[in-house]
Amino acid sequence: MNPASDPSSPAARVDPPEATARLLTELARALEAQTFVKLTLSKPRKGAADEDRPLRAVGRLVEIRGEPMLSLVLSHKTRDITRNHPLAEAPDAVWELLSDSLGEAYLFTTAANLELRTNKRGTPRFHQKAATFEQGGAPQAHNRPRNYILEASKAPYLQELGIVDGKGRVRDSKQGKFRQLQNFIRVLDPLVTKAGLRDRERLRVVDIGCGKAYLTFALHDYCNQVLGIPTEVVGIDQNADLVTFNNGVVARLGLQGLTFTHSTAEEHPTGAADIVVALHACDTATDDALFAGLAADAALIIAVPCCQKELRPQFQVPADELPLFRHDTFKDRYTQMLTDSLRSLLLESQGYTSRVVEFISDSHTHRNVMIQAIKGDTRVPRDKRRAEADALMARYGIDQHRLNGLLAAQET
Ligand SMILES: C[S@@+](CC[C@H](N)C(=O)[O-])C[C@H]1O[C@@H](n2cnc3c(N)ncnc32)[C@H](O)[C@@H]1O
Repeated sequence: MNPASDPSSPAARVDPPEATARLLTELARALEAQTFVKLTLSKPRKGAADEDRPLRAVGRLVEIRGEPMLSLVLSHKTRDITRNHPLAEAPDAVWELLSDSLGEAYLFTTAANLELRTNKRGTPRFHQKAATFEQGGAPQAHNRPRNYILEASKAPYLQELGIVDGKGRVRDSKQGKFRQLQNFIRVLDPLVTKAGLRDRERLRVVDIGCGKAYLTFALHDYCNQVLGIPTEVVGIDQNADLVTFNNGVVARLGLQGLTFTHSTAEEHPTGAADIVVALHACDTATDDALFAGLAADAALIIAVPCCQKELRPQFQVPADELPLFRHDTFKDRYTQMLTDSLRSLLLESQGYTSRVVEFISDSHTHRNVMIQAIKGDTRVPRDKRRAEADALMARYGIDQHRLNGLLAAQET
């Protein structure tokens, strides 16, 4: 047995090949100089893919009891294991993984992107490329809920958008907006993990009906700076003045990978995207955004619907429910619920798992229902969800529901 693959034999006893040694030296240097951003190990070695060996590992800086550590999350077939290493021991721990289980390493620092890849014969090769990250991965307090998420004083776009004053303080009149933004990103954070996006090398995000784009800028900040993933963000809106204003802010701040496009949700060719969001897009623009998310094959689709007018004029109360709907106000509320229930069912009919949650206290806004859809992991057959949607529409005399119509048109 190769001593490096023997768990009782510390890998450090076997000298790494030259290319691997270079990567480990660069890792040690980056940890010391605080230029480290993140490390990804992949490509399981042949014969190494048994239950006890990781298929992938991702390293980040964390702080445990005040000490910076390299935290390695080892992803196995059925579970993840986290191992935290003092910085001085981190290169040895990485070498152990490289010698035993994983063939490739991608080290991101603020000085360079460093890659260890193996050729067909299994010989490691070292490559150095231009850095894609400008900021190091500052240690995060371990096991503490992320408080980030938007640091008002460190986000110049918040000042440009009038949320923060010249001293980096959130303006009194914008506290609600700021909380809403914080909350959106806080809710988004675990969904990114669930959707399997956290360890992507790159991301593309589309925000439909972006308006004045508080969220679009925050998404760009969150993906690039907090997740540390180079991300292209596109905001689209039918209001040309807002698009011009937003592109002006991008230019003034010199932001890369953020653009705004003048278009309607229904006309815009979204292209492939990992995340599609629509926050308070008016009426059926939410359906157009959800449809765009499906067309983009997005791993994660999030919509916070706005006003809903489509179903109310069509709504017919079944005889056995007349006592429930004696008051119009309940008809109004119920048709809103029905609209979003149908959206959720239709998303599931397309292979997504969906949840509808209240994402912010209704003391901030009554438009606080969020539809979350993650691709895959569906437990219920798609046809069943479609049949449930059809049955609901029939029950309440609904002939037209925008997302249903878009899907039906696509199918014919
Ligand atoms: C209430 S604002 C929300 C803006 C932003 N998403 C937010 O939550 O702060 C709705 C925005 O959606 C845009 N909008 C409405 N219908 C649209 C459509 N069909 N296509 C593109 N944009 C649309 C409007 O121009 C407006 O800027």
